[in-house]
Amino acid sequence: MVAIPGYSPRQISAAVQDMYSAVAEAPESHFHFPVGRAACQALGYPGEQLADIPPPLLASFAGVGYPFRAGAIRSGDRVLDLGAGAGNDSLIASRLAGPDGRVIALDLTAPMTRKLKHIADGSGIDNLGVVQGSAEQLPLPDGCVDSITSNGALNLVPDKRRAVSELFRVLKPGGRLQLADVVIHRPVSVDCHEDPRLWVECVVGATVKEELLALFEEAGFEDVRVVGEHDYFALSPSDQTREVAASFGAHAIEVGMRRGAAAPSRLRQWWLRFAPGRWLLLLRRRGLFGIAALCLALLSCYGTLALVGLLPLLGLGLALDEGAWAGTIAAFVVLTLAALAAGLRRHRAPGPLVLASAGGGLILYALFIDYRALVELAGFVLLAIATLWDLRQRRRQEARVLGLASGG
Ligand SMILES: C[S@@+](CC[C@H](N)C(=O)[O-])C[C@H]1O[C@@H](n2cnc3c(N)ncnc32)[C@H](O)[C@@H]1O
Repeated sequence: MVAIPGYSPRQISAAVQDMYSAVAEAPESHFHFPVGRAACQALGYPGEQLADIPPPLLASFAGVGYPFRAGAIRSGDRVLDLGAGAGNDSLIASRLAGPDGRVIALDLTAPMTRKLKHIADGSGIDNLGVVQGSAEQLPLPDGCVDSITSNGALNLVPDKRRAVSELFRVLKPGGRLQLADVVIHRPVSVDCHEDPRLWVECVVGATVKEELLALFEEAGFEDVRVVGEHDYFALSPSDQTREVAASFGAHAIEVGMRRGAAAPSRLRQWWLRFAPGRWLLLLRRRGLFGIAALCLALLSCYGTLALVGLLPLLGLGLALDEGAWAGTIAAFVVLTLAALAAGLRRHRAPGPLVLASAGGGLILYALFIDYRALVELAGFVLLAIATLWDLRQRRRQEARVLGLASGG
């Protein structure tokens, strides 16, 4: 599960259904995200694809991109539209699949599925089935569809790993998937439970782009490629939503991929999940790089000291190059300072960096000029306080941008 502090899956499901019921029933209301024909046009839907979509369905369009750019749907396909909403993409897919194909439009929100079913039945569209259900537990048999399309739904799903494995399960081997969704540059890390609106507006529930693509690769999708990327939130009528989106680097991507013949082996899944490069990126984007560098500095200093003390007790000796040892500690201290300097750029509070510079100075003095264990220890204490202070400032800055009370 991609964890977002503060929300329970039940809270998310209720908030999502409230919001998208309103989009189904009263699309003319004021939303913080773009809806309707104007949104479709701005996202790149060609006019001819919109021409015969019934206006009440078009009015409730709430997608975030143009997933058809990935070209996954072929004539004769059995297609799943995941998080179909009012079904604009389902209708486009039903035309692409043709009379020999069929589209299953699946959505969590009852007023959305009711609206689509009512209008599709009335318009005599006979290759479209409407199903109410959850992406985390698709009410469909294994390997039952040739292609999948989804627009703006996955970011709203709490357990994305499970949803992606469900997509893998219901898609035939070699089947194609096209997706438009919101991704972020760095994840939200403050507790947002005060305001579930933040989830349903598609920013807080979104995943870092590389993480989202990795989820599909881990599940067994191949040839995962980004075919489009755009500033979806620039279309939002709300200043606050635009500011939140800009602060987290939220934007929309369009992706295409193919289902592999089988899910990767457990070993390969673990390798993909725990690849060091991926963790380094995550640590940096979560603002935890400073803490990681400080831990390494402490480990190389006091961990080595402990080893030097313990090994002789086991009858082993350790030849230590003191210059290399001091250099390693100093390198991690400098990395910690660099991480705090990056934090200053974000929260603009100079205190943590000033304190960290004093701490770092003491450590470097003890390492290279005049060794005093207490001076070195005092340096590490200052550096640790500064690193935690920086983390707190980053969280407060996030809370402020999100408009949460704890940001005050
Ligand atoms: C942003 S709207 C997009 C709707 C539609 N794809 C469109 O382009 O207009 C997201 C849709 O995903 C649905 N959704 C959210 N969470 C879901 C879940 N766990 N399972 C299925 N659908 C979900 C919502 O009800 C909503 O209709």
